[in-house]
Amino acid sequence: MSKKLHITEVVLRDANQSQIATRMARSDFADILETMDKAGYYSMEVWGGATFDSCLRYLDEDPWDRLRFIRSKVKNTKLQMLLRGQNILGYKHYSDDTVRAFVRKSVENGIDIIRIFDALNDPENMATAIDECLKAGAHAQGTICYTISPIHTFQSYVDLGKKLEKMGCNSICIKDMAGIMSPQMCYNIVSALKKDVNIPIYVHSHSTTGLGPLTLMKAAEAGADGIDTAISVFSGGTSHPSTETLVYSLHEMGFDTGVDLKVCKEINDFFKPVQEKFLKNGGLNPSVLETKIDALNYQIPGGMLSNLISQLTAVDKLDKLEEVLLETPKVREDLGYPPLVTPMSQMVGAQAVSNVLTGERYKSISKEVKAYFRGEYGTAPGPVNQEVAKKALGNEKRIEGRYAETIENEFPAAKAYLGDLAQSEEDVLSYIAFPQQAEAYLKERAEKKALKVAYTIKEAE
Ligand code: CO
Repeated sequence: MSKKLHITEVVLRDANQSQIATRMARSDFADILETMDKAGYYSMEVWGGATFDSCLRYLDEDPWDRLRFIRSKVKNTKLQMLLRGQNILGYKHYSDDTVRAFVRKSVENGIDIIRIFDALNDPENMATAIDECLKAGAHAQGTICYTISPIHTFQSYVDLGKKLEKMGCNSICIKDMAGIMSPQMCYNIVSALKKDVNIPIYVHSHSTTGLGPLTLMKAAEAGADGIDTAISVFSGGTSHPSTETLVYSLHEMGFDTGVDLKVCKEINDFFKPVQEKFLKNGGLNPSVLETKIDALNYQIPGGMLSNLISQLTAVDKLDKLEEVLLETPKVREDLGYPPLVTPMSQMVGAQAVSNVLTGERYKSISKEVKAYFRGEYGTAPGPVNQEVAKKALGNEKRIEGRYAETIENEFPAAKAYLGDLAQSEEDVLSYIAFPQQAEAYLKERAEKKALKVAYTIKEAE
């Protein structure tokens, strides 16, 4: 008898984010959504992560509108999003009322499954989002961010899995954002979780180091309930193992994914010219498609590596890359080994760049790193470097308890500030998450509307 295995197609969110810096516009995929709905995927990851920011900042799109549009075309397949727990989709911690409203509105606008993670694997930072997701009637997927460090033992992952189940999660995702989880490690973790927890286990990996497809194969063998893949034209490299390749192989091994390869071909054919366009306009740098084993040495996710390269290129210091790559794990150690995922990857990366370029370690400490030492991001996974902490904190004290509880409710003030610019609760949430970008977007929208009204009046005259 064949065993069921769920496939989550991630082309619209993570592949989009990992290969082309989340620049896929609604018009790039609008016409394929109805076909994607027929492919037999368990779910499609379409929202959250950097999509929200990118819609407002680069694409002149209302992210909520994008979600509603996708929902209107994808009627049967579950829609999934990635949420950074207490960070929602931003880069700092928000108040609990913001997190709750954001989760509730995400579900109201069409999300079925919320994958909730925290960059430090701190369950307290996921608790509010999980609770609200369950209240809203959606599927809460708790996340284990996989990383390699002296304190991230095999057992620590299993323990976190058990904790997430206790917190009420409907499933667990093992998130290997850097593509560094080896096939055997994946097999061991999934097998242990299958034994110790009773909720489904999903595995998310990237092809960066070339391990991805092997790791997903072992995930299936170990009894995982689902895996994440990307349609082949947007697969590989910093993106994910290819949907068609995995489905093809797994079918032969006796797994029933429910995915129809004929429909996949249609989807892939549709996305070929989209990829061509990004190759031509430079949005897709072919180097992200390479297999880069460096991540195994430096444990730097693909997205972070390309960020470091662009930061150094911007100041004409690309020759310092090797030094920065050696400095990054040291900064990470000083911070108590946070997994390198947003926002920790940016924080650690920027500090490493600064440590190298200023010629002195921690000569300048970013405000985010200071906030980290104050406890504004939660509990560090391991002990932090006390000397660096002292330097960062100065006379300030570390916050005791949960930082989010010290933040005042953000919604009322944001709503009052925006006045007529905000036409919905969603607008206010966009503003709280990305004040500058959202305000610019909302102003432009209001101007366009005013212009349209004026034009209509003139037409009528
Ligand atoms: Co990912």
